[in-house]
Amino acid sequence: MKLFYAAASPFARKVLIVAHELGVIDRIEIVDVVAHPVDQNQEVMAVNPVAKIPTLVLDDGTAVFDSRVICAYLDGLAADASVYPQGEAHLDAMVLQALGDAAMDAAVLLRYEQFVRPEALRWAEWADGQANKINKSLDDLEANRLDSLAGPVTIGQIAIACALGYVDFRHGSLDWPTGRPGLKAWYDAFSERPSMRATVPSG
Ligand code: BEZ
Repeated sequence: MKLFYAAASPFARKVLIVAHELGVIDRIEIVDVVAHPVDQNQEVMAVNPVAKIPTLVLDDGTAVFDSRVICAYLDGLAADASVYPQGEAHLDAMVLQALGDAAMDAAVLLRYEQFVRPEALRWAEWADGQANKINKSLDDLEANRLDSLAGPVTIGQIAIACALGYVDFRHGSLDWPTGRPGLKAWYDAFSERPSMRATVPSG
């Protein structure tokens, strides 16, 4: 199977980390593509009408998207590992994933606003709204969710780590670690995982 991927995309990183953690990375051929919200990638659009990165194409040609669906698909392939906990921890992990994905959405939109939208069309209040979503998400993690981040690796932890990694990568000026020591300590430890080290964003 092949994965349309961009090394700067936090959602593509999430899929690769899941593949590493599950031990299925060797089954994936990575195809680097340029992802752009206006100049949409035609190769990806041929299999996914919204040209989203990541998109996974199975050997029979079936296109699987978005990152949540791909991660769940990969989890089903792994014989003896899972990043979806059972029981009470399941809901926590899924809500963490939703929060991480939402923070990534806001961070990517903020990046597009600042670097893709023509300067004359930029809207400062809208950009501030996206930055506010990022900050509120990270405040919530620091105040309420450090317990959920503890324990064996889950899809929720992976999504949060990708969000923090992307904010570091594209929005260093937000200086997210200041005032969030618990989250910073968790992220520093999680970043030592081989799956995180193998997927550091670039581009
Ligand atoms: C970025 O360059 O920040 C980026 C690229 C692809 C998807 C999302 C973000």
